[in-house]
Amino acid sequence: MFWTKIIVTTWLVLCECWTVSAVSADVDIDNSYQYWEIAVENSQRNSWPYLSKNRAVAIRTQRDVSTNVTVADNVVSGVSLSTVLFEPFGYNSSSLQGFSQLMDAGVQSFILDLYYNENSQSWLLCPKSTVLGEQSSPAFSECQNSDFNLTSVVSSMNKFIDSTDNELSINVMFLLLRLHSFSIPPRTNVSDNSLNSNITSLSDSISRIRRIVSPFSFAEYNLPTLGTLLSKYTLRVFPIIVENNLPSNSSYNLLPDASTLYLSSSVKNINTYLQTTSFNILDLQLKYHRQINCTESLVEDSSIKFSYDTEESPFTLNSYWNSIKCGYSPIINHAFKNIIDISTFLDISTWSWAPFQPTATGIDVLSYPDLLTNLTNRGLPNLKDLNVTFTTSSSDQDGYNVTLSDNQNSSLVSTTNSDGDDDQDQDDEYLNRCAVLTRLGWIATSCDRKIGYVCQNLRNSSDFIVVDDKKTYMNAVRDCQSLDGKYDLAAVRNVYEQYKLLSMMTNSTLYFWININSLSTENCWVVGLETDCPYQAVISHRIFIQLITPSSIMALLLFLLLVALQGQRLPVHKNRKHWKKLLNEKLKNEYDGIAS
Ligand SMILES: *[C@@H]1O[C@H](CO)[C@@H](O)[C@H](O)[C@H]1NC(C)=O
Ligand SMILES: *[C@@H]1O[C@H](CO)[C@@H](O)[C@H](O)[C@H]1NC(C)=O
Ligand SMILES: *[C@@H]1O[C@H](CO)[C@@H](O)[C@H](O)[C@H]1NC(C)=O
Ligand SMILES: *[C@@H]1O[C@H](CO)[C@@H](O)[C@H](O)[C@H]1NC(C)=O
Ligand SMILES: *[C@@H]1O[C@H](CO)[C@@H](O)[C@H](O)[C@H]1NC(C)=O
Ligand SMILES: *[C@@H]1O[C@H](CO)[C@@H](O)[C@H](O)[C@H]1NC(C)=O
Ligand SMILES: *[C@@H]1O[C@H](CO)[C@@H](O)[C@H](O)[C@H]1NC(C)=O
Ligand SMILES: *[C@@H]1O[C@H](CO)[C@@H](O)[C@H](O)[C@H]1NC(C)=O
Repeated sequence: MFWTKIIVTTWLVLCECWTVSAVSADVDIDNSYQYWEIAVENSQRNSWPYLSKNRAVAIRTQRDVSTNVTVADNVVSGVSLSTVLFEPFGYNSSSLQGFSQLMDAGVQSFILDLYYNENSQSWLLCPKSTVLGEQSSPAFSECQNSDFNLTSVVSSMNKFIDSTDNELSINVMFLLLRLHSFSIPPRTNVSDNSLNSNITSLSDSISRIRRIVSPFSFAEYNLPTLGTLLSKYTLRVFPIIVENNLPSNSSYNLLPDASTLYLSSSVKNINTYLQTTSFNILDLQLKYHRQINCTESLVEDSSIKFSYDTEESPFTLNSYWNSIKCGYSPIINHAFKNIIDISTFLDISTWSWAPFQPTATGIDVLSYPDLLTNLTNRGLPNLKDLNVTFTTSSSDQDGYNVTLSDNQNSSLVSTTNSDGDDDQDQDDEYLNRCAVLTRLGWIATSCDRKIGYVCQNLRNSSDFIVVDDKKTYMNAVRDCQSLDGKYDLAAVRNVYEQYKLLSMMTNSTLYFWININSLSTENCWVVGLETDCPYQAVISHRIFIQLITPSSIMALLLFLLLVALQGQRLPVHKNRKHWKKLLNEKLKNEYDGIAS
């Protein structure tokens, strides 16, 4: 035990050194091209089929800031399984692999079409036309229930759920069901293997999904907050019927499923027996992406909102982004040539962080604003398509000019931030531990920067005070807290607050500090200056495990190295100075009382 501890400590100490030297090296590269290469390395496309590092952190932060916000306010990315996987890649087990990849890459909502075969009285994943395809082609390899059925879809989900059932990765998911029915003419030459799945009850199958929510799961009438759902109830997956195309004379009886499956309020012709029991009706909107428009205002309501595209009019980056900014979870309903092409959308799928943020490297994007617009020819979203552009001014290293333009070519915001930060030296740039709100979303930047900020009344979360005075992050926090009443630097907890803060940006306030930082632990973003990373133990443990597993011999060697270095201090890094400064500032705030 003792030895293990020493080795762990050694690891963590050495580890930190390596990270720091790697970061310092990054900072020395003064070439935006190379900076960009690093961003590309961290793109979702490059990480496929796993979640990219940036997105893992971004999605986790977004989940954590929303912990006290209703589940209905979540904005997640989604796909329709039939159009994105089954139609293009086959109704067979290879599509199930694609399904697992999508979940791993952070897709959280899925539309699943289910077909009730009135003859065999069982649920199939295949539509009638595809089932009948077997008739014309003897080599037909699709729709075989023996390897592609609702049970195998459920198993794929369970595999993913089990592997992400931990504090770091747990998150909410939505399984949106569209129910259809068909009958096969008698004497059709189709094997029983594609006509009969033996799945006769929807709720029997769906309720096998682990961590599944049901209409009876919650004590409260309204949907719980995200934090309550994930940690108190330890539930994750909402099964919701969003379309019911079963004819009234169908031999399938939905009534027994009412206690397991939610029914979307958008379902037309809700069968009369279901109308009488409203407990499982979920307030839900499903909107065509071109109908979404929140340029005037964005008003919070209690419904869960989804948007979708079509094969004829697929999402563009701009409409996808627009959907997210307006609080609608986009569901991609058009096919890709290669499923990896969805990465481009996934990289812009958080309402909170800007694309590729927070940077896993020492790059401070605010110092190189056009990094974010030069995203061409690399399979990455070209942010020019989002109608938000940043342009650098060549005038001064610390002052930069940012233009944010809209469709009409009119400049919404244009200003120069050249008030000359005090001792902004090169090596704080990697200290991207504080978040600013920009039109593209949050960007991680150096806490020493001087930027305007917004204070929020803790007793009335819709009461904001915009301060144009440019301050460092620490000073902004201190100044908010010293306001009359109970104020703090504003945190952004959902897409509605984000919208509201963005609408307060004027020509003189280009960015706002928001109360989100990773000062206590790298890559662990929390709300508030005094908040510690809730996963400290998990993260250290993970880092240890990740490092130790490849070779424990290596660990021993390093331990011996440490012994050899005993008495000889490990090199102190440039960042120490800044950490000390930040800490001093933090401590000063605690004892100083109110400043000027
Ligand atoms: C959520 O609410 C709890 C209790 O009110 C509070 O302690 C916590 O800081 C809040 N978390 C966030 C991220 O707002
Ligand atoms: C469903 O598919 C799985 C393989 O994915 C298979 O093991 C199982 O037997 C199938 N179920 C039926 C009823 O054919
Ligand atoms: C059905 O298929 C079998 C073999 O695949 C064939 O021998 C038979 O003639 C077919 N029957 C009809 C009615 O098409
Ligand atoms: C369905 O169940 C019956 C008996 O219960 C079995 O004979 C048949 O093979 C099963 N079908 C499939 C597709 O698994
Ligand atoms: C339901 O009614 C339609 C027409 O009214 C008919 O074509 C169909 O076969 C019926 N389905 C069942 C399962 O009885
Ligand atoms: C962006 O692209 C322009 C034109 O290709 C180039 O001049 C500029 O250096 C690039 N900036 C960055 C940060 O890559
Ligand atoms: C925006 O500017 C470009 C070039 O400057 C021009 O071609 C385009 O027509 C303008 N669009 C609008 C809506 O004014
Ligand atoms: C909260 O603040 C907003 C904006 O200042 C104000 O309109 C509203 O009346 C306040 N609500 C309460 C309960 O004080």
